[in-house]
Amino acid sequence: MGLWKLVRGVRQLELHRLILVLIVFCLLSMAFLAYFVSNSPKIKEAPPMPFSDCGGVVAAAAGGQRAPLFLPPFTVRQRTVKAVDNSRTEPVVLVFVESIYSQLGQEIVAILESSRFRYHTEIAPSKGDMPTLMERDIARYALVIYENILKYVNLDAWNRDLLDKYCAEFGVGIIGFFKANENSLLSAQLKGFPLFLHSNLGLRDYHINPAAPLLYITKPNEVEQGPLPGDDWTVFQSNHSTYEPVLLALTKSSEALAHLGPHRALHATVVQDLGLHDGIQRVLFGNNISFWLHKLIFVDAIAYLTGKRLCLSLERHLLVDVDDIFVGKEGTRMKVTDVKALLSTQNKLQTLVPNFTFNLGFSGKFYHAGTEEEDEGDDMLLQHRHEFWWFPHMWSHMQPHLFHNVSVLAEQMRLNMQFAQEHGIPTDMGYAVAPHHSGVYPVHSQLYEAWKSVWGITVTSTEEYPHLRPARHRRGFIHRGIKVKHCHFTVKLDNLIQKNMKESIRFACVLLIRPSVFKSKKNNAKLCYCSLSSINPCHDKRHKDIWSKEKTCDRLPKFLVIGPQKTGTSALHSFLTLHPAITSNFPSPVTFEEIQFFNGPNYHDGIDWYMDFFPFPSNVSTDFMFEKSANYFDTEVVPKRAAALLPRAKILALLINPVDRAYSWYQHQRAHQDPVAINHTFHEVVTAGPSASKELLTLQNRSLKPGTYATHLEHWLVHYQARQLHIVDGTLLRSNPALVMDGIQQFLGVTPIFNYTQALVFDEGKGFWCQRLEGGRPKCLGKSKGRKYPEMAPETRAFLTEYYREHNLELLRLLNLLGQALPTWLREELQSTSWS
Ligand code: A3P
Repeated sequence: MGLWKLVRGVRQLELHRLILVLIVFCLLSMAFLAYFVSNSPKIKEAPPMPFSDCGGVVAAAAGGQRAPLFLPPFTVRQRTVKAVDNSRTEPVVLVFVESIYSQLGQEIVAILESSRFRYHTEIAPSKGDMPTLMERDIARYALVIYENILKYVNLDAWNRDLLDKYCAEFGVGIIGFFKANENSLLSAQLKGFPLFLHSNLGLRDYHINPAAPLLYITKPNEVEQGPLPGDDWTVFQSNHSTYEPVLLALTKSSEALAHLGPHRALHATVVQDLGLHDGIQRVLFGNNISFWLHKLIFVDAIAYLTGKRLCLSLERHLLVDVDDIFVGKEGTRMKVTDVKALLSTQNKLQTLVPNFTFNLGFSGKFYHAGTEEEDEGDDMLLQHRHEFWWFPHMWSHMQPHLFHNVSVLAEQMRLNMQFAQEHGIPTDMGYAVAPHHSGVYPVHSQLYEAWKSVWGITVTSTEEYPHLRPARHRRGFIHRGIKVKHCHFTVKLDNLIQKNMKESIRFACVLLIRPSVFKSKKNNAKLCYCSLSSINPCHDKRHKDIWSKEKTCDRLPKFLVIGPQKTGTSALHSFLTLHPAITSNFPSPVTFEEIQFFNGPNYHDGIDWYMDFFPFPSNVSTDFMFEKSANYFDTEVVPKRAAALLPRAKILALLINPVDRAYSWYQHQRAHQDPVAINHTFHEVVTAGPSASKELLTLQNRSLKPGTYATHLEHWLVHYQARQLHIVDGTLLRSNPALVMDGIQQFLGVTPIFNYTQALVFDEGKGFWCQRLEGGRPKCLGKSKGRKYPEMAPETRAFLTEYYREHNLELLRLLNLLGQALPTWLREELQSTSWS
């Protein structure tokens, strides 16, 4: 008992000690915390600045003093903002729109497209699920934009949590718009945020907060007096340090509004959420982006929130062509006053854009062809010729596409050059513009040739490629060494001179011109280049109007035999040409029979080059022209290019067992003395591992890759409809060509139905079907088709059968989906593999 008391006494003593130790520990930690809090940086640390500088300087606000333009912040719990995730190579923007027709949604997309930013649109789900945000552990989207921010704040808890966690984890920002309507509450709190909205206000006199971290293209030093357009503005109010105003304005009415506090103060219509509230950075707009300044801030917001991975450089090159100098009917031409206005506009623009110079395009034939006053205007232009840049149109302002003969075009150009020399106009610009942009796109090769020979032109421009509208889709290209830049927008000269000079210069499209790559000799215009894709001129009236009358889309193929190589494409070609209504291209001197236009460098020779391979059809509706280029099948770029020029063409693909195709290709290479094929057995070629020589792997790839049929066919099906595609059974073509040719005739809809049973004869010596000549003699394909070579080794066949098994299953699925008959070889192959 005594012992028990003693133990209890000792325990109580320990408990007291423990409590004492705990109290001392708490006091020490409080003192420690107080010390560090008082010495830590003050609140409102700016979030991490973007990494790259997008080719320019970092935002003006970096390190700048924050002006007290918003309600004073109070200390709140800080949240750290995750740096923008830089892991994706190509950042994509996820845009939640209200509907596919909603105006603001379209404006957002237009800006993203003009800036060439990749994006994906989704209809904003009110309830329902978020689109998939992750792809194999990689964040799919670098930025989220909500056309209607309420769709974001009103997301159900699960989806909201999902999106917020994604944004916080990967440093993804959110841009949102609040566009008030007559039903909007005048004042309300944004659900879940320490932020109040006051709607349907008229505003005036905007200011840009120089301390807003997102500012990049937008310069804060301008304050514009006067009303902002519309009376449906929303302003944001908060006393949380996470919100930094970006754009501020006064309310229109001179009275202070009760719900906005007692003073008539500046109110924020765009705010930047620095992420101090919940770790996510946001930019919120209290209106749409119709107001020009919102466009700028929107572009800046994208740049900022993506760490400048989606960013427009600050560099802009402005080239204003003033077309048609000396051209025009009496009474419509420039007089002395107009020339003075032009010069004074140029001077004013030079204060904004150093060395800005108008670029004048002239047609000499019409010099002094106006009224007396207008002729004086011509003279004044020439007196001041050294203050401008000059470029030639045609001498008589004729449209080049109307002239087929290069020498006629060259003569016209020479006359204009003579005029320039006589009047002291410089002739070394290297830049020209065709009247009406005729001959530039669709390409009129004769124009390019004459330009090069007479003027040494290296750069021209058009607004026609690929089409006039929408302007933001316009691109440049290079043809025969001449760079074709795209005109982004056209302004009426009198607008620039008198009415809207300021607005013209502020053009959002000036903002959105992407820096690009061309420089002409003198003007330092950087331009955009994309590869030329020949688009069918007959499907666009504007293109047709500026296309040579001697050219016709009837001179283009109605169908293509796309290969792949070694499947019997030459036999099919020769059988097709027996048909009285079917015509092939003229043989290419370079590639023998095949043109190979869409798959390689020939493509850059343009549509004229391609069309020259085809005769003019005698009857457009009944004549069927085609071309066969066997490596179209597996060259990925071909379907897109072919569909741009021949969207209505029918496509024939010829398939044999890919194992036999591979072997035939190997034998073909041996016959052409390919040293790799000669020095290696077929088995060695197809089984070579990754450490094999480059040459061996190339041969392996060219043997095996075309045989993954389904993959290649899927590329074609992206650009052509299933009903345009016909799969020809190559094995059946070899054994029963008449039957196959009947099926093809039906598919093409060609008349008359040609009797191939009579037209073909089996040649025992050759072992193949051949053309039956008069008297029944066979005319077969040459020695290179239907070669004699040993059987494939059984183990190699087994290896390849296994190699292609999955691909063949994929082909089976695809053909079933398309409702196409299965080739006999595929049926047999799948039957035998399923037994093994
Ligand atoms: P092999 O020479 O390996 O036997 P392509 O013309 O696409 O290059 O294909 C050549 C293959 O077409 C030949 O391969 C041959 O087997 C096959 N072929 C099918 N029908 C033919 C025919 N009537 N005459 C010659 N070869 C034919």
